[in-house]
Amino acid sequence: MRNLTKMINNTMNFSSHVIKEYKCGKCGELIRVIRLVINGKVRIANRCKACDDRELEKEALQTYKDLQVSKRERIFNDFSLISDGLKNATFENYHPANQELAEAKKIAKNYVDVFNKYKGLMFVGDYGVGKSHLSYSICKEVREKGFTSIFISVPELLTKLKSTFNNTGNYTEEALLTALKNVDLLVLDDIGADYPTDWAISKLFEVINSRIGKNNVYTTNNNAKELINKVGKRNFSRMMENVQLVKMNGNDYRLKNLKIWN
Ligand SMILES: Nc1ncnc2c1ncn2[C@@H]1O[C@H](COP(=O)(O)OP(=O)(O)OP(=O)(O)O)[C@@H](O)[C@H]1O
Ligand SMILES: [Mg+2]
Ligand SMILES: [Zn+2]
Repeated sequence: MRNLTKMINNTMNFSSHVIKEYKCGKCGELIRVIRLVINGKVRIANRCKACDDRELEKEALQTYKDLQVSKRERIFNDFSLISDGLKNATFENYHPANQELAEAKKIAKNYVDVFNKYKGLMFVGDYGVGKSHLSYSICKEVREKGFTSIFISVPELLTKLKSTFNNTGNYTEEALLTALKNVDLLVLDDIGADYPTDWAISKLFEVINSRIGKNNVYTTNNNAKELINKVGKRNFSRMMENVQLVKMNGNDYRLKNLKIWN
């Protein structure tokens, strides 16, 4: 600094002196108003350094937070496989039609409230009662709490893995499997909906085995016996570890207009 001042003094006509002192109205720090004359041009330095520093710090923190939010959104958007009908699903627009479904909604909301406790939920029951709706809502709210989440329809996942990623895209199979392994919450929707080939069962094993001890939510139409047949004993056993069963039975919401049909 001294060298710089010397250099400036040698090459330019430069002077500076304090012309006034006062306390910052915002933070109370002493501010020195400095009058600088550089090559005949007058500059007045009249800023609170402490406030400037705090402002910069705030901006840096906000930028960091924004980056974290966009990282969470990116992970969700890049790797989730969701049918369009669910995109607007929230807890608020889920209106349970019976006591069991009301209880399921309560459990789903509580799961978000206490996240992350390293446990799982398995929504089991009839078609169209809101298993995917509630799981998607969990996914969304967990992300708003600052965690990463991915919602995967298992049939779509298997189709995607089968397509060997030829023209599909922006990431590799390895990247997808790594994302599924590392995400804070993974929803595996409609598990057991596929015809159980050895290939499908072993692909599922890769995912399910990598999720042991993590937060997982499953939805299925199968009962236990059917699910064992569909995913195999090894997968079933891992899925059931530390998982709470949530029964959801009722009328198919998709068919709610049928009442006026007959
Ligand atoms: N109680 C409800 N209130 C509002 N919308 C609902 C309700 N139940 C279901 N829906 C809507 O109906 C559609 C079907 O629900 P969802 O996909 O969650 O059913 P599901 O139980 O997962 O069925 P499936 O077993 O066939 O996958 C969705 O668009 C969902 O948003
Ligand atoms: Mg579903
Ligand atoms: Zn200040």
